Amino acid sequence: MKWPTASWALAALAALPNVLAIDPKGLLAANRYSGAQPNPTGEFALFTSSNYSWDTGKSSSVWNVLNLTTGDISVWGPASEISEIVFIGSKPTSILYLNGSNENGDGVSLYTSDVASPDSATLVASLSGDFSGLKAAQTKSGDINFLLYSKAYPNGTAYSEATAVAPRSTARIYEAIYARHWDYWLSEVKQAVFGGALTKNGDGYSYGGNLTNYVTGIHNVTYAESPLDLNGADDYDLSPDGTKIAFLTKDVNLPLANFTSSQIYLVPFDGTAKDAVPINARGSTKYPEQQGASANPRFSPDSSKVAWTQQSGISYESDRSILYTAKVDGDSFDVTRLAGDWDRSPALPLWSQDGETIFVDAPDLGRDRVFSVPVTAADDYKPKNITDEGVVASFYNLPEGKLLVSDSKIWTSRDIYTVSTEGKDVKYLLQANKVDDALAGLGPEDVGEFYYSTNTSEIQQQAWIVYPEGFDKSKKYPLAYIIHGGPQGAHFNSWSTRWNFKVWADQGYVVIAPNPTASSGWGQNLTDAIQGRWGSYPLWDVVHAYEHAKANFDFIDFDRAIEAGASFGGYMTNWIQGHDFGRNFKALVTHDGSTSTLNQYASEELWFMNHDFSGPFNSSSLKPGSPYYDWNPINYVDNWATPHFVVHNDLDFRLPVSEGILLFNLLQVKGVPSKFLNFPDENHWVLNRENSLVWHTEIFKWINYYSGISNATSPY
Ligand SMILES: *[C@@H]1O[C@H](CO)[C@@H](O)[C@H](O)[C@H]1NC(C)=O
Ligand SMILES: *[C@@H]1O[C@H](CO)[C@@H](O)[C@H](O)[C@H]1NC(C)=O
Ligand SMILES: *[C@@H]1O[C@H](CO)[C@@H](O)[C@H](O)[C@H]1NC(C)=O
Ligand SMILES: *[C@@H]1O[C@H](CO)[C@@H](O)[C@H](O)[C@H]1NC(C)=O
Ligand SMILES: *[C@@H]1O[C@H](CO)[C@@H](O)[C@H](O)[C@H]1NC(C)=O
Ligand SMILES: *[C@@H]1O[C@H](CO)[C@@H](O)[C@H](O)[C@H]1NC(C)=O
Ligand SMILES: *[C@@H]1O[C@H](CO)[C@@H](O)[C@H](O)[C@H]1NC(C)=O
Ligand SMILES: *[C@@H]1O[C@H](CO)[C@@H](O)[C@H](O)[C@H]1NC(C)=O
Ligand SMILES: *[C@@H]1O[C@H](CO)[C@@H](O)[C@H](O)[C@H]1NC(C)=O
Ligand SMILES: *[C@@H]1O[C@H](CO)[C@@H](O)[C@H](O)[C@H]1NC(C)=O
Ligand SMILES: *[C@@H]1O[C@H](CO)[C@@H](O)[C@H](O)[C@H]1NC(C)=O
Ligand SMILES: *[C@@H]1O[C@H](CO)[C@@H](O)[C@H](O)[C@H]1NC(C)=O
Repeated sequence: MKWPTASWALAALAALPNVLAIDPKGLLAANRYSGAQPNPTGEFALFTSSNYSWDTGKSSSVWNVLNLTTGDISVWGPASEISEIVFIGSKPTSILYLNGSNENGDGVSLYTSDVASPDSATLVASLSGDFSGLKAAQTKSGDINFLLYSKAYPNGTAYSEATAVAPRSTARIYEAIYARHWDYWLSEVKQAVFGGALTKNGDGYSYGGNLTNYVTGIHNVTYAESPLDLNGADDYDLSPDGTKIAFLTKDVNLPLANFTSSQIYLVPFDGTAKDAVPINARGSTKYPEQQGASANPRFSPDSSKVAWTQQSGISYESDRSILYTAKVDGDSFDVTRLAGDWDRSPALPLWSQDGETIFVDAPDLGRDRVFSVPVTAADDYKPKNITDEGVVASFYNLPEGKLLVSDSKIWTSRDIYTVSTEGKDVKYLLQANKVDDALAGLGPEDVGEFYYSTNTSEIQQQAWIVYPEGFDKSKKYPLAYIIHGGPQGAHFNSWSTRWNFKVWADQGYVVIAPNPTASSGWGQNLTDAIQGRWGSYPLWDVVHAYEHAKANFDFIDFDRAIEAGASFGGYMTNWIQGHDFGRNFKALVTHDGSTSTLNQYASEELWFMNHDFSGPFNSSSLKPGSPYYDWNPINYVDNWATPHFVVHNDLDFRLPVSEGILLFNLLQVKGVPSKFLNFPDENHWVLNRENSLVWHTEIFKWINYYSGISNATSPY
């Protein structure tokens, strides 16, 4: 097979400059990789990589071809126009791709093409609407049935930002909770899954011109939405024979902002939204716990079953997920629970090619590992992990019982490798830290972990420790103590472009990142123990992790420590500021945290506070004894004393910007050295690279001054 010649090859970048520490500019400009997607015969895989030029202020994105035999990588084409690719058609190299624009400027277009001859690309459909999330299947007659999603009007028509007519008034009016979410205001325009058919026509395909909306109109009270507003194509699937669609939507009979429950609906490809029926309507299956949020429906290879994962708590977003399958080729749905006692939360079910095994990934001891679960697994079955380090981004079947896995680690932004389904014969095809200039010198030796005893859990808790470049254990380094958000979540062995431990360490710190109460991956009890205890258990745990480090690590200078955290980590920073523990730090950093828990009902996902503060807000919340009151950082404002850097962004609707302003104003009024950084165009996260560079520069200036790493005469 002959490929188009590449102008450059990643694997050829062997001669790396001697860059030995990673800095914010390097981190932010370095390649960002998608997961690698194999072709049907497993000969090669496609993935995108994109980088950034500080000179031009532009990012550049390409599709790469990875030879799965040799590991050779070559550029296939620009990714600016081709946003998604699905392998489908007569040859193992045949593809259908999504072009993010069309000739009318009101939507997208679909092209058939061949990876081996990109010049053969043929326009097959032009679609009005902001579509993405392409899935496709070949029918018995050789047609291609495809799915996409877009926002849609209540009448079912797909929405196009480019041609939408703006109303004359900007007023927004709401009659029920859930007015906004994450970084946008909700409107009558909601996401829906659409299907269309490309009819086989000689060597090519013709498109009839009509799309079916399978979602809008399945109910007329609170109308359905799929994918859910922040989710994508993982919320729906097309059966391999092209005849059936499964999608999930939140329970249409419950108020959206205080329940997380969602169900999987099944609809024939040639049906409409009116034909959609729930597979797991609450109370309809033999498992009474099947009440909460559903995720990731996936059809079996023979199209007869759907697998998905589902939580139990109807209004909890961090409950344990359980893997289920249902038969979908008969009159009733026969639902089966797999490995129901397994104390982990599996996600992204992938059926093996013989339909006998389901591969899932799950947070596990600070990693996110791939596990295999037989379709016959009883409740007491203990799934075995196939992968070890890292956090999995994607995994696909390859012929001969292998998987193609893409993951990241604290020391590498992307590893791509094959592994047997027994977890053997790992063969690396790409290791970003070995080919990307900015990551040169990074490796597993930069990272360690330790377990510490604490007074909140029977089990020991874990913390990551990340060393600076040129680390010498006979020297002393200031501590950067980083607390994670969530609180349900974890510090994982994964790459981050927002909180990259190695970038912090390479400023000259030893980074410690603990996984206290609420962390996921050590069993549901540790996660659930946070309820009603925001200011107690996790604080005690981070005190214990700190004391453990102090007793064991001579190479840390605890007199020059700083502490930082975002979201719940920002809350914890504000809480620490008001407690004796705060006096152990020379400086603190709060990114988009909570300053007054009494304001948290200004958030969007009310189910979160209702759960974490053990009930909805009422007048009792203003009094001692209520978690809202007891764990309020502002109660301890009189103790605030440590220099404090505050970041809060305008588009953060999770914790509104007033939380950051309140914190900064109080610090200033008290005369505590403090600085406020705000981005009008960022949400809970700082994503724009130029903004992120300012974020890093300003925070590092602050902490490096107070820790004594820099010789600056002022922190400002
Ligand atoms: C970024 O990627 C483009 C396209 O792959 C490549 O031509 C360019 O050299 C890369 N730039 C850097 C700084 O790596
Ligand atoms: C992969 O490389 C091998 C060895 O050079 C070659 O025979 C094969 O055709 C390549 N496969 C693809 C899909 O490029
Ligand atoms: C993508 O669509 C635009 C607009 O129709 C067209 O000009 C461009 O050639 C297409 N590119 C590819 C790679 O299909
Ligand atoms: C659906 O509603 C939108 C917005 O009001 C309108 O532009 C569109 O023409 C309607 N579609 C149909 C089929 O009525
Ligand atoms: C398109 O319309 C034709 C004729 O009404 C119908 O037979 C076909 O099922 C429709 N296809 C889709 C995908 O809605
Ligand atoms: C839903 O639609 C049906 C049929 O149009 C109608 O009878 C019913 O009253 C509607 N329900 C609500 C709550 O609007
Ligand atoms: C959910 O919201 C509804 C409507 O606001 C309210 O009546 C109900 O009590 C809430 N339920 C919970 C569990 O917060
Ligand atoms: C499975 O996880 C354990 C840690 O729990 C690890 O030691 C082991 O190497 C992993 N197995 C495989 C096959 O990667
Ligand atoms: C979780 O906590 C419950 C109740 O305290 C206890 O019965 C159970 O054994 C614990 N499970 C694990 C895995 O620790
Ligand atoms: C647990 O340990 C922390 C930190 O040492 C301490 O402040 C707290 O009082 C302890 N809690 C209990 C219940 O002993
Ligand atoms: C407020 O909510 C709490 C927790 O749900 C409950 O125990 C208490 O009785 C409520 N108080 C009032 C005044 O409704
Ligand atoms: C600070 O000054 C000391 C003493 O002059 C010097 O050794 C050190 O390299 C300086 N550090 C930085 C970060 O400039």
